[in-house]
Amino acid sequence: MKVIDNIDVLKSELEKRRRVALVPTMGNIHEGHLSLVRQAKKYVDTVVCTVFVNKLQFNERADFLNYPRTIDDDLKKLEMNKTDIVFLPTGELMYPCEQEYFIEVPEYISKCLEGQFRGPFFSRVATVVMKFFFLIKPDIAVFGKKDFQQAFMIKKLCIQFSTQCTILLGETIRDFDGLALSSRNSHLSSSERAKANQMYRTLVNIKEKILKNNELEHFNLKFLSQLEDTGKDKLNNEGWECEYIKVINKDLFREPICPKTEWRQLIVLAAARLGGTRLIDNIEIV
Ligand code: PAF
Repeated sequence: MKVIDNIDVLKSELEKRRRVALVPTMGNIHEGHLSLVRQAKKYVDTVVCTVFVNKLQFNERADFLNYPRTIDDDLKKLEMNKTDIVFLPTGELMYPCEQEYFIEVPEYISKCLEGQFRGPFFSRVATVVMKFFFLIKPDIAVFGKKDFQQAFMIKKLCIQFSTQCTILLGETIRDFDGLALSSRNSHLSSSERAKANQMYRTLVNIKEKILKNNELEHFNLKFLSQLEDTGKDKLNNEGWECEYIKVINKDLFREPICPKTEWRQLIVLAAARLGGTRLIDNIEIV
């Protein structure tokens, strides 16, 4: 495995390679990232993993500063999982001067759900991912379904900018009790960790209700909105601060118009704070 922190070295190394896949990360590598690396490796000879904590996509300075940085451990894990190249740029390398140009993400993606709570997050992620695409020119890039809204945005971005890069989505990897793996889980105290799967259980509960009711007369927008409200109340009563639970059509990224005909395309997305930690998760109905 080559660890590279220089653009010229990266470029000359990539010239020798045939088909390249990109797995962009912010480090603190866990099984979720490693499963993306293994997925990528099935399609290409070279997997490039980027480890870069992108300051510009953080809304709160403290969140950026506290983001877990575990590079020695990350490199070991990536090597064991047959990553070919790790690109480890500094902030100065990615942003040699003040970044004044950003990719504009349409509002139906950027202003709802995560976009309501994270400022210009999607525009900033689109911008850094595009920088990686320009530098690495991958044939394939793999993103986790846990960050569904981000993955949807990037798929669209690639179509709109004709990147010639195929976007693959990797399944969410869960801990023994259902909690989705996330770098932010390391911020949970032991008592918070013990109850952190409540968000996933709430999503499972909503999914079960959708599967049970989708052929019945009352399966409409009002029914879905009641499921969302009940889910939010449940989490809030369990000591969370729920920011949203929303059922949408995952192919179109909008509220379903006719839930009865669209139920197979539904996905339930949630974000909630447990103590000082903000967690997100989602569940597809089919
Ligand atoms: O999902 C992430 O870790 C980040 O948003 C990404 C895609 C690496 C861009 O910084």
